[in-house]
Amino acid sequence: MMRTIVLAFALLLLAGEHRAGAESTVSRGAYLVNTILACGNCHTPRDADGGLIRDRALSGGLTITTPTFTATAPNITPDRETGLGDWSEAEIRRALIEGIRPDHGGLPGVPLAAVMPIGFYKALLPDDLAAIIAYLRTVKPVRNKVAEPVYRAPVHRAPYPDAEAGFTKADFSDPVRRGQYLVPIGHCMECHSTFSAGSSDYRGGLGRGGRPFGPALIQGLGSEWRGAVAPNITSDPAAGIGRWSDTEIDHAIRQGIARDGRRLNPPMAFVFYAGLTDADVGDIIAYLRTLK
Ligand code: HEC
Ligand code: HEC
Repeated sequence: MMRTIVLAFALLLLAGEHRAGAESTVSRGAYLVNTILACGNCHTPRDADGGLIRDRALSGGLTITTPTFTATAPNITPDRETGLGDWSEAEIRRALIEGIRPDHGGLPGVPLAAVMPIGFYKALLPDDLAAIIAYLRTVKPVRNKVAEPVYRAPVHRAPYPDAEAGFTKADFSDPVRRGQYLVPIGHCMECHSTFSAGSSDYRGGLGRGGRPFGPALIQGLGSEWRGAVAPNITSDPAAGIGRWSDTEIDHAIRQGIARDGRRLNPPMAFVFYAGLTDADVGDIIAYLRTLK
């Protein structure tokens, strides 16, 4: 009798521990998805004023039109018919880091357009990737089918050197190195690097800005949105943010307010970065300071 009770108690403890582990995985995933990764910057629908429709989070969002494709960020909630409800964990993982859809469904095995930042998500540590997928499973399912993509040319993505090289947990004792991880997973440099002939330059043009965003490229940011050009965020004192204090850079990232007090426009994802911890913003700034 006593043994049964002890055994039952031990099992109960184990179950509790297991649940706590699962909860912290999901909460890590929620933090990543809703802050630095800003998946909703593309995947959450907006109203006519460009405001995020939060009760339909991740149910399908912006449409991107380039010379090579037109694609709408699909529904990534667990809805079975219009979202990821029927995708296995392995299938979601493959889509996120290889950019290939599952072998079932409407577009079996078809590669995702270059706008989906797969080249950056290759940097994700296995635990973080698992946390993201675990969180996506817990999001409220919303029914919403987005328009089918149109492809006019094969997919081309410029590889991002830091993501190709990869990271390990051991790197993270160094704040600069942690920032160097957060910047690719936030795909900051996809917008903030020089861009020409349909391709980003992540070597010579890393962080140097100049990429234009406008209503012909992005549809769904609201009727008032006129576009924006991503600025230079290297530490150059004249062209970049070299003369900005840490607080000023933090305000741009988390509040969307530039050094001169100007309100930043989307697609800069400050609405999402608002939720970043002080430590994470500090490490991002420490890394940006190292960009010549
Ligand atoms: C810059 C915009 C952008 C960001 C940021 C982004 N996505 Fe996407 N994503 C897209 C677009 C656009 C597509 C559709 C591409 C196509 O149809 O070829 C897509 C496709 C997908 C797909 C495939 C869905 C399907 O039904 O085929 C998944 C899964 C996905 N994204 C998950 C995510 C997650 C998770 C994040 C955050 C970690 C994220 N995306 C961040 C734009 C984005
Ligand atoms: C989807 C594209 C996009 C992404 C991703 C993005 N930004 Fe931006 N960012 C912009 C644009 C566009 C502006 C300028 C907005 C304006 O002028 O209204 C901007 C402005 C800024 C500014 C203000 C600089 C200045 O001179 O005014 C900073 C700092 C900045 N971004 C840092 C970051 C960091 C750090 C990340 C990643 C955590 C990031 N951005 C991710 C597009 C992006």
